[in-house]
Amino acid sequence: MAAKQPAHHQKEAWNSQLGVILAMAGSAVGLGNFLRFPVQAAQNGGGAFMIPYVLALLLLGIPLCLVEWTIGRYGGQHGHNTAVGAFGAMSHRRGFEYLGLLGVFGPYVIFLYYVFVCAWTLAYSFFAITGYYSGIQDEQMMRSFLAGFQGIEQNQYFHGIWVAYLFFLITFGLNLVVLYRGIEHGIEKAAKFMMPALLVLAVIFTLRVLMMGAPDPARPAWNVTNGLGYLWNPDFSRLKDSKVWLAAAGQIFFTLSAGIGALLTYATYLKKDDDIPLSSLSAGSTNEFVEVVLGGSIAIPAAFAFFGPLGIVEVAKSGSWNLGFVTMPLILNRIPWGELFGAIWFFVLFLAGVTSVFSLAQPLIAYLQNLFGWSRKRAVTVFGIVSFLLCQPCIFFLRQGFIDEMDFWGGTVCLVLFSLFQVIIFGWVFGLKQSWEEMHRGAHIKVPAIFKFIIKYVTPAYLLLILGAWVSQYHGVFVLSDVPPEKKPYAIAARVMMTLMIAALALMIPLARRLRRRVPELEPR
Ligand code: PHE
Repeated sequence: MAAKQPAHHQKEAWNSQLGVILAMAGSAVGLGNFLRFPVQAAQNGGGAFMIPYVLALLLLGIPLCLVEWTIGRYGGQHGHNTAVGAFGAMSHRRGFEYLGLLGVFGPYVIFLYYVFVCAWTLAYSFFAITGYYSGIQDEQMMRSFLAGFQGIEQNQYFHGIWVAYLFFLITFGLNLVVLYRGIEHGIEKAAKFMMPALLVLAVIFTLRVLMMGAPDPARPAWNVTNGLGYLWNPDFSRLKDSKVWLAAAGQIFFTLSAGIGALLTYATYLKKDDDIPLSSLSAGSTNEFVEVVLGGSIAIPAAFAFFGPLGIVEVAKSGSWNLGFVTMPLILNRIPWGELFGAIWFFVLFLAGVTSVFSLAQPLIAYLQNLFGWSRKRAVTVFGIVSFLLCQPCIFFLRQGFIDEMDFWGGTVCLVLFSLFQVIIFGWVFGLKQSWEEMHRGAHIKVPAIFKFIIKYVTPAYLLLILGAWVSQYHGVFVLSDVPPEKKPYAIAARVMMTLMIAALALMIPLARRLRRRVPELEPR
């Protein structure tokens, strides 16, 4: 084995603890915090939703963050930057490498549509500041505006999809530039600017919403305080519904970016003795603050103040995208300085989204680097070309439900399965005692011993329960019986595309082994 590595084998690493925390928090804080969370909470029992939510945080979210950071750092110490190598190193079994593929595939599936949605936020912040939608007062018109923008219908605002496409190119390009610059000079540096900016702007915007009071003097009960009440007053009867529990668990995973492989790859760039418990809890708490305190105080309370107790039920029903891109612009059009605050709102979403995108892309880039010994620049170039092509169906078949299908497999199924693999490797394969020591090396705080029990038994059991409930509840989704006939071919196409993707990823492992045998200097450390 060569003593000196070629230049591109120089190990990348985070430069500072604050940088790691901000990058990890950047991954966690995303569109999920501002759009997905309020809708989930409002649809699933309001304040009562917080019971399964906090339980899922304690029994699934926090354990998984600890597990994922530890597996990642361990893998990184053995020259691997994805779950494939890390699982192999921890289990000493080749079969586990293949289970690790989900930790590359899952984030990438989310990446392919998340970039496009992220581009909408940038576009809308531009529309806000230029006053492009400022004349629209009517909900139907605002929906049309969105549909026109997405290329779903032709109207007076948009002729075709090209504006959305332009913003997609900008977002995609910006993302590649950051990834091209690498972990420390790209992702960490971006997070150090973007995360503080996001926090400041989000706090300003939240305060602006809280000061809205009752916008219509004729209807004093339509106010922000009652809006907060609507979101937070518990409806305990909803706790009997297993859907509420599944929704809470799903939200915890999604918002923390936990259990998909994104945090794992980021953690491989930690140094041997870098702290895990304190850093992961700091990143997680930042996410929870942004989600519960800020995310919970913005869109739903504001919508209540403007649309009242009946209107809000419709808003909550119509989902996250509608809340962000239809309801919020309507509200912003009615407040003083609406252009400026609109730009702030959408720019907050953009910052939140783009810092998540980095973490969704990095696993595949690291995978290519690790397997083929490529330089980062080469890996990013290949990644850029392939991803550009694979993003197209998400853009052009949006109306046909392509994104929903990708989201279901990437953001729901992969997540639960991959989480299960991780806790099993940590608690059962590598051995709890050894994993626990590994996690605490260099730690600034000690994790309470009760989490040993939780990680070994409770988290896996909880995950199995979720999996069982999902299979029984979403049976229709698996066999496509819920999908309207005109969307079916597209859902099948999405599945074919994903199957080919995972097959290609899997085939790269034996391929890389054969190549490496011929070119021994490519052997990773
Ligand atoms: N956590 C991000 C959000 O809340 C989404 C995400 C999921 C990012 C998984 C990375 C990995 O929007």
